Amino acid sequence: MIGGSGILINWAILGTGVVANEMARALKKAGKRIYSIGNRTHSKAVAFAEKYGIEKVYDDFHAMFYDENVDVIYITTPHNTHISFLREALSAGKHVLCEKSITLNSVELREAVKIAAEKKVVLAEAMTIYHMPLYKRLLDMYENGDFGRVNLIQLNFGSFKEYNMKNRFFNKSLAGGAILDIGVYALSLARLFLTSKPVDVLSRVEYAPTGVDEKVGIVMTNEQKELTVISLSLHSKQPKRAVISCERCYIEIMEYPRSCEAVIVDAVSGKRDIISCGDKQCALQYEMEDMERAINGDKKIMHLDDTIDVMALMSKMRDEWQMYYPEESDGKIL
Ligand SMILES: NC(=O)c1ccc[n+]([C@@H]2O[C@H](COP(=O)([O-])OP(=O)(O)OC[C@H]3O[C@@H](n4cnc5c(N)ncnc54)[C@H](OP(=O)(O)O)[C@@H]3O)[C@@H](O)[C@H]2O)c1
Repeated sequence: MIGGSGILINWAILGTGVVANEMARALKKAGKRIYSIGNRTHSKAVAFAEKYGIEKVYDDFHAMFYDENVDVIYITTPHNTHISFLREALSAGKHVLCEKSITLNSVELREAVKIAAEKKVVLAEAMTIYHMPLYKRLLDMYENGDFGRVNLIQLNFGSFKEYNMKNRFFNKSLAGGAILDIGVYALSLARLFLTSKPVDVLSRVEYAPTGVDEKVGIVMTNEQKELTVISLSLHSKQPKRAVISCERCYIEIMEYPRSCEAVIVDAVSGKRDIISCGDKQCALQYEMEDMERAINGDKKIMHLDDTIDVMALMSKMRDEWQMYYPEESDGKIL
């Protein structure tokens, strides 16, 4: 049951794939309670429960939405399945931490946000960047005026994934593509440091043979004329590198989705200072601990407004490219 500090919150996990295993390890390590597990393939849920000592396995995973012992559901299924599970879980009054990208588009996200508000529950995207201690420290320094204003943000993210239709990365029916899979990280980091949401957005896409976005270049500015340049690739490796260029220095961050270290380079002297903060092995633990804080009242900590801005940008770009998923046959995604 939900309670104030000291009372364990009951987590249910939906899905038993790569990231579900990672979160289960994080929850166990942090001494949290994984009350139940549900999965489309029931035998995998049984094996998962044995592996992590989980007491409850559902014969039909939909039962988790109506289980009165469940406080919060962590959704870890492919992007295109999120909205139907969000709809069901939120309507049943459950708090939800949903893997990125939280929905396919802004229309779906608006619906989920509305249900969460009506039911007075926490809805959040599992975006590691918002919860890493490094970014909390850098934002404090930024707000303290240590860096001066942000002028330019440059972000790269490139993975090499095979053109394999058995996994979700290039499969259009599983909402594959660069923008929803990796672009969401770059855009979330940019949004964290930008004063306001970008309003002028230019993008260029090249498609994979499967018809999803494989390479994307983005250039965008906001009302304050802060410029962001992003380069994404899903079949070509690039460093996950962020450079945030401010008036007094630039901040370089490698492996930025889960980074614990930033190099601050003084704009005049070139002097380099290293800021170390947190442990990247604990990325999901930070996220889940913030989710529990939100359930106990501090909703802002989950950055839902930033998630909404990022989803609006991704939807706008895909709408311009006319790249829609099978679930979006009416083309209404904004
Ligand atoms: N935060 C991070 O660092 C991070 C890292 C990786 C992935 N992710 C995100 O996490 C999510 C899952 O990624 P993953 O790599 O863990 O995926 P995965 O290993 O392929 O696992 C997918 C899970 O979803 C289930 N599933 C697939 N289609 C379904 C459907 N139609 N209905 C119900 N369940 C379905 C699968 O069930 P079966 O066992 O029956 O196939 C499996 O349990 C994605 O949103 C992804 O972007 C986040």
